[in-house]
Amino acid sequence: VSLVPRVLRGRGLPVLAVDLLGKPAAMPVFLSPTAFHRLADPEGERATARAAAAAGVVMSVSMASTTAVEELAKAGGRLWFQLYVQPDLAFTRAVIRRAEAAGCEALVLTVDSPVFGRRLRDLRHRFTDLPPGLACEHLREPTADGYGAPRQIAFSADVSWEHVSWLRRTTQLPLVLKGILHPDDARLAVEHGVDAVLVSNHGGRQLDGVPATLAALPAVADAVAGRIPVLMDGGIRRGTDVVKALALGATAVGLGRPVLWGLAAAGEAGVGQVLGQLRAELAGALALVGLGAPGEAGRALVRAGAPEEVSWPES
Ligand SMILES: Cc1cc2nc3c(=O)[nH]c(=O)nc-3n(C[C@H](O)[C@H](O)[C@H](O)COP(=O)(O)O)c2cc1C
Repeated sequence: VSLVPRVLRGRGLPVLAVDLLGKPAAMPVFLSPTAFHRLADPEGERATARAAAAAGVVMSVSMASTTAVEELAKAGGRLWFQLYVQPDLAFTRAVIRRAEAAGCEALVLTVDSPVFGRRLRDLRHRFTDLPPGLACEHLREPTADGYGAPRQIAFSADVSWEHVSWLRRTTQLPLVLKGILHPDDARLAVEHGVDAVLVSNHGGRQLDGVPATLAALPAVADAVAGRIPVLMDGGIRRGTDVVKALALGATAVGLGRPVLWGLAAAGEAGVGQVLGQLRAELAGALALVGLGAPGEAGRALVRAGAPEEVSWPES
């Protein structure tokens, strides 16, 4: 996808802040949920949460977080909670109540994982269990005075739209469906009263052969037709990537691996640097394509094809 800037528009320095599910975010970027941050840094999700709070962006807390959501709330930033429906719905409901009590502002239901993808790198590295001392904190059994031993995380092969309806009845929190690629599923999401869809292929980790999310985005945006926000993640690495996604219909984009790379390199400061660098690049890119705010991006700004291949439409 290429960018075709407009010039001489006198827009001044862009304002990056956007509304995300009814509340402000400092830029149209959020942290997509990623598991096991304490594998990357001893402070793990705590460090990530502090960096996200300082940058004014939402952190989606993974169901498979190695730090409890109550701890992450102490960082004072905006949190969403990512959920895999567990076959035990009573336990799933208890996890939702926990996220609500901790102040999470939305539930992100990951719908691309009825089973676990075949991850060749994990197989090669023989990554099967967390090292001693680390656990999926949200999978601990509720006990009378806190939380006990963790369960194994489970995937629900039978997960369906009935679970979405069940979630709608179970919580007042806004509901985001993560892992939408097909426009028909985007339409069904709107019909089921979902508050946002997140176009995602799980960072290419679930199923081979699926489209790049940027390629799937326009059809989903057309299907949703502005009724709810469309979010996207996958492959966002620089400011121009954000601008392309905004132009093709995203309200905001999620970051997966770049956050983990920053965290592994330099903990909280590393995540802060990733977010700061992306923010600076985004501000520059918006100004250079002639936009004053993220919401002004539209399809007229982009052409299909790499820069050397772009063909101009008639007109
Ligand atoms: C190490 C790793 C762990 C992840 N863990 C989760 C998870 O627990 N729940 C989830 O819904 N998605 C998970 N994802 C997918 C991300 O939310 C996101 O869709 C993807 O990483 C975005 O692509 P990017 O890494 O290219 O930015 C994970 C991705 C990675 C790389």
